[in-house]
Formats: sequence, structure tokens, C-alpha cells
Amino acid sequence: MIIFKNISKIYGENTVALDNISFEIKSGEFVLIIGKSGAGKTTVLKILRREEEPTKGNVFYKNRNLLEIPHRRLGEIRRKIAIIHQDFKLLEKRTVLENIALPLEIASKMSFKDIKNEVIKIAERLRLKRKLNQIVKTLSGGEKQKVCLARSLIMKPEVLLADEPTGNLDILGTFEILEILKNLNNDGITIVLATHNKDIVETLKTRVLTFNNGRLIKDENPGTFSLL
Ligand SMILES: Nc1ncnc2c1ncn2[C@@H]1O[C@H](COP(=O)(O)OP(=O)(O)OP(=O)(O)O)[C@@H](O)[C@H]1O
Ligand SMILES: [Mg+2]
Repeated sequence: MIIFKNISKIYGENTVALDNISFEIKSGEFVLIIGKSGAGKTTVLKILRREEEPTKGNVFYKNRNLLEIPHRRLGEIRRKIAIIHQDFKLLEKRTVLENIALPLEIASKMSFKDIKNEVIKIAERLRLKRKLNQIVKTLSGGEKQKVCLARSLIMKPEVLLADEPTGNLDILGTFEILEILKNLNNDGITIVLATHNKDIVETLKTRVLTFNNGRLIKDENPGTFSLL
């Protein structure tokens, strides 16, 4: 489904963020990307949505070379490959409902009633229904993370990229997000999760790509947690 072929990324003159990286991810996999700070995890995720262009190499999504897709069509790819960020990027002064509805309001011609029904379905699934009319600013960190997830899911992505989605959460919040991600994966969504959290690696017992200084040093299934 996703192929990284000899990808290198050099920022500026000489910051080698990724050094000749190749891997393949099959549809339906749950893959963890681990590595120390600066190892290149976020850069991998950005290249997967073409938020950054690689300096060298190619990246394929369902046999299409992502680098050959014209800019005006990148929106389609980014709807299929959703991302959740560690720093939420939510509209803090708006309600949960408004935040989750926003992508559909922008990208579809659905009536607000139909959009609201979609939001309610997702909110039920993530146990957010009670919170739909609450202003985002007043939510806990774990609740905000669930709103981010809901906002990505409303576009029915095929792949979900999660960049440190539990970075600010305590252990219970972390496990709740992991449970939700596992359920989504069981429903067929391919998941790529970047983390430095040992508990996540040990709980999920899934494939792990380990990065160090821009190099892919291990690709094991199930993988273990070691950053070197
Ligand atoms: N826009 C940029 N301009 C210059 N250098 C960058 C840029 N983005 C990332 N880098 C550098 O590329 C390297 C890899 O960064 P990246 O963000 O991919 O690491 P990471 O593994 O996600 O780290 P963290 O765990 O801290 O999030 C780092 O050395 C970083 O400083
Ligand atoms: Mg990062």
C-alpha cells in the first residue's frame, strides 16, 4: 500500500533527516515508528502526506508515485492519509461538534443535518457524545486528542498517521487512545504511529521500525523497544 524507496531528506545545507530509507507497509498493518528525538520520525510522516518533499527517492501510495501527483490533487491523497498531531491544532474557542464537523463542511456538499449525524456516529464511538457542545479550550488533554481523532475519522481515511498521539497523556489516557486505534485497525484502517513510549511498543506487540540519526536500523514484527 505504502512504499518508501531509497528516500533521503536533507534540510538546509547538511541536516540529514533521513538517509536512504526503504520500507513497505501493507494495507491493514499497524506499524510503530520509534527513535530518539531528531531520529526522523516526523519527517517520515510528513513525506507520506507530501507535506515535505524528499531530496532523493520515491514514495508510492497504492502504486501511484506520490511525487508525481499535481499540487491541486494533493487534497484527495491527504483525505485518504489522515494525520493527528501531538499539538492538536484544534479551534480552541469552538465546540467539539464544530471542530469535528469542519473538514466535512469544507470538503463536502452535505447538509448540516447530515454532517451532524456523521459527527454523532463518530462521537459515540469515541465516547465523546456528552462533550459535543463543550468548548474545546475547556477539555482535558485526552479529550482533545479524541477530538483530533474524530476530526480525522470524519473523512473516512484509509491510513491514519499518528505523531506522538499520547505524548501529553497519562497512562490511562494513553491506553484509551491505544484501544481506539486498535479498534480502528481491526476495522481495516492502516495505522502508522510514531512514538518514544516504551509502554506502547510493549502493549501493542506489533511491527516496529526503529530509526536512529535518519537511518532505519531495525524492522521487526513484532518489534521490541530499543532506541539503538
Ligand atoms: N523544517 C526543518 N528545517 C530544518 N531541519 C529540520 C526541519 N524539520 C526537521 N529538521 C531536522 O531533521 C531531523 C529529524 O527531525 P524529525 O522532526 O523528523 O525528528 P523526530 O524523530 O520526529 O523527533 P522528535 O521525537 O523530537 O519529534 C532533526 O535533526 C531536525 O532538527
Ligand atoms: Mg517528531
